[in-house]
Amino acid sequence: MSHSQPQLTELSLVISRSVIEQTVARLAAQIGADYRGRQLVAVGILKGSFIFMADLVRQLGIPLEVDFITVSSYGSGTESSRSVSLCHDLTTDVKGKDVLVIEDIVDTGHTVCFVLEHFAACGASSVRLCALADKPSRRERGVKIDYLGFTVPDRFVVGYGLDFDNKFRYLPEIYALEQHGGQD
Ligand code: IMP
Ligand code: MG
Repeated sequence: MSHSQPQLTELSLVISRSVIEQTVARLAAQIGADYRGRQLVAVGILKGSFIFMADLVRQLGIPLEVDFITVSSYGSGTESSRSVSLCHDLTTDVKGKDVLVIEDIVDTGHTVCFVLEHFAACGASSVRLCALADKPSRRERGVKIDYLGFTVPDRFVVGYGLDFDNKFRYLPEIYALEQHGGQD
């Protein structure tokens, strides 16, 4: 029997549910105020943003459109592939509208740079970035995060939408994955 998959006991809490709730409320208040009277299109980067985005848009208090984009950056490991490709594009016409890209975590920066470059020529009035988490220690590309939730240490984190090998997204809090003890 293989022991290479991490178990729940190998996760340590990094961001609690109450900190997540306070953070989402703070971001929603700021974004809701900034986009009042504008034509907001919230664009989630799948799959990692789905829980954060669902919580965020319900607290904005302004009308908006929701769409998603799917890109592939990570394979099944914890290292960035550095080569990002578009798997599924928007179905919304964003011409003349205000796009807010919503990402779970910015690590090396390759994924959000690819997405922001992709939207640069789409005719939107504005394109901004909201990220739940930032791991600046591993940055390889310059990224301006217009709305940031919190900074996390250089650990691989899971839960609240964030995955390892597509697992742990459902956890309501954010945990660091302990890399040791996975193999025997
Ligand atoms: P980047 O291109 O290196 O900035 O990686 C960004 C993407 O990798 C994000 O969309 C996440 O899905 C994923 N990622 C980066 N760090 C983590 C992490 O600690 N946990 C889970 N996913 C991560
Ligand atoms: Mg991911």
